[in-house]
Amino acid sequence: MPTSSLFPRSCTFTAMALAAAAIAGCQSSTPGTPPAAPAAPAAPAAPASPAAKTAAVKGSFGTLPDGTAVDLYTLTNAQGTELRAMNYGGIILSLKVKDKAGTPGDIVLGFNDAASYVKDSPYFGAIVGRYGNRIGGATFALDGKTYTLAKNDGANTLHGGNKGFDKKLWTGTTFEKPGAAGVTLTLTSPDGDEGYPGNLQMTVTYTLTDANELVIDYLAKTDKATPVNVTQHSYFNLAGEGSGTINDHVMQIHASRYTPVVKGLIPTGQLASVEGTPFDFRTPTPIGARIESKDPQMVLGGGYDHNWVIDQKSPGTLGPVLRVVEPTSGRTMEMTSTEPGVQFYTGNFLDGHHIGKSGKPYVRRGAFCVETQHFPDSPNQKSFPSTIVRPGKDYASQTVFKFGVEK
Ligand code: BGC
Repeated sequence: MPTSSLFPRSCTFTAMALAAAAIAGCQSSTPGTPPAAPAAPAAPAAPASPAAKTAAVKGSFGTLPDGTAVDLYTLTNAQGTELRAMNYGGIILSLKVKDKAGTPGDIVLGFNDAASYVKDSPYFGAIVGRYGNRIGGATFALDGKTYTLAKNDGANTLHGGNKGFDKKLWTGTTFEKPGAAGVTLTLTSPDGDEGYPGNLQMTVTYTLTDANELVIDYLAKTDKATPVNVTQHSYFNLAGEGSGTINDHVMQIHASRYTPVVKGLIPTGQLASVEGTPFDFRTPTPIGARIESKDPQMVLGGGYDHNWVIDQKSPGTLGPVLRVVEPTSGRTMEMTSTEPGVQFYTGNFLDGHHIGKSGKPYVRRGAFCVETQHFPDSPNQKSFPSTIVRPGKDYASQTVFKFGVEK
């Protein structure tokens, strides 16, 4: 049984900032001297796509229903990838990456206006926190005190409560550096926010690199002990948003164990082997191959909605989490993370009533989420790696999504 000491959670801001800088730094777009060109006449150079430039631009995404102005951040890289995000919820609005024919497509679900996100969104593209996923009974005890949280998911609390980080207005600052462009989002979550103790200074940075990576850095400081488990809730369909189910995507998850749940999706506390179960994605397998299995865990989740325990070689450092391929477009997405777990959710609760950016309904299993995290309900599960952040012991987490194509 792993213990907290096997999964060091916190490191210093400096160390993580250096790691982020190293990742961005090694994407230097300045190649060495190219070898001598072959004698054949060169084809005329294709006109550079206006998007094929490493840049971060701030603009407007209209207003919230209460009239608050919303900022839009557009990040582009040298490969023609474009990410748009807004300061409301730190929501990733769109992510356009090329398919194997070089045609860009938007691979995340979402809406065209800020008001739609406020009205009815199942966390499309959002930063979730202070505690991503569930805490059982919406309560936990810490240092001898019991804290009561919002019951916004049956008897439990989900994704930070009624007004989690997904519904807050962040402050964003764009930046450009060699080979990368990004936006840093900051937020102060006050002492008592949604029932959680301590003033929490939260920073989330999205960095788009010329190596076609989206690097997400999460940093937090608190003045009182509090649980922290922040993640990103983008819904992916690598064939393009609104283009049917994700059943044919081929998934590989580097995890030999997962955390089974009881009704309400609270972990039992056990770390169960995936061997011989529909949860075994150690070799690449179509998502839909076993999704209708009558395995009691699959029935409880209505499909996949569980936390996988990553086979980390070096806990707390960046290591492989998963790889997914969409065979028609050839698009691939690889994830690495410092986190010990990933919530793989197959959009089981989507039902077609959300009409997306291109006017198409988002059907059941029309997308998947891969939320790197500590395990759900950790504040109540003594054997799980600790999620408690304390004054002077900051929270730092990094996840990298790398996009590519396979012919
Ligand atoms: C949870 C699901 C939930 C979804 C949207 C996922 O992280 O595990 O159970 O329905 O988020 O809220």
